[in-house]
Amino acid sequence: MQVLITFHSDYGSTEKMARAVAAGMRSAAPETRIELKQAVDTTLDDLTGADIIVFGTPVHMGSMAWQMKKLIDEAAVLWMENVLQGKLGGVFVSGGGFGGAGGGAELTMAALHANFLEHGMLVAGFPRNALGYAEGGLHWGAYARSGNHEGMPAGVVDSQLTAARSYGAHLIEVGERLFG
Ligand SMILES: Cc1cc2nc3c(=O)[nH]c(=O)nc-3n(C[C@H](O)[C@H](O)[C@H](O)COP(=O)(O)O)c2cc1C
Repeated sequence: MQVLITFHSDYGSTEKMARAVAAGMRSAAPETRIELKQAVDTTLDDLTGADIIVFGTPVHMGSMAWQMKKLIDEAAVLWMENVLQGKLGGVFVSGGGFGGAGGGAELTMAALHANFLEHGMLVAGFPRNALGYAEGGLHWGAYARSGNHEGMPAGVVDSQLTAARSYGAHLIEVGERLFG
């Protein structure tokens, strides 16, 4: 299986999650080919060549970072040809989360899922019994809150990265069932 993890990160939290998702994938299936790329460096060929596509973004004003949306809009030409149909998609986000778990994280994840579904892809959520789910899981995918209770940046913590790793392993398990 070929995996593409494409993400945006300004301050490093989402990048840590991306690396944790990749580590979880490698622990589940060491032979998996994983490409880890910034969204702005991701090409349409990268998307086309992957069996599993994973999008990661910080929450920016209740939605995804523009760099991720730019890639999504550029990939609209692939929609015309049904190129991504049948691939598996997964998502992870980090947000400051001021005021609880919210701040737009779920809206952002749902928007990423919606894009996958528009292409005719399958999407993998995050099962509640997965390791780390209670700290870094939402049923849409992996979530890490990087802000503290004063609304200031504090960074993602290990328990949330554990969830991101376990989400990566879950994506591989689902991918193996689909693509063998
Ligand atoms: C322009 C901007 C807008 C943001 N808006 C939100 C928001 O609406 N909700 C939220 O939870 N966090 C928001 N944040 C906080 C980031 O999502 C959070 O710090 C994230 O972990 C940053 O990820 P990064 O370190 O990968 O850049 C915002 C940050 C920036 C820079």
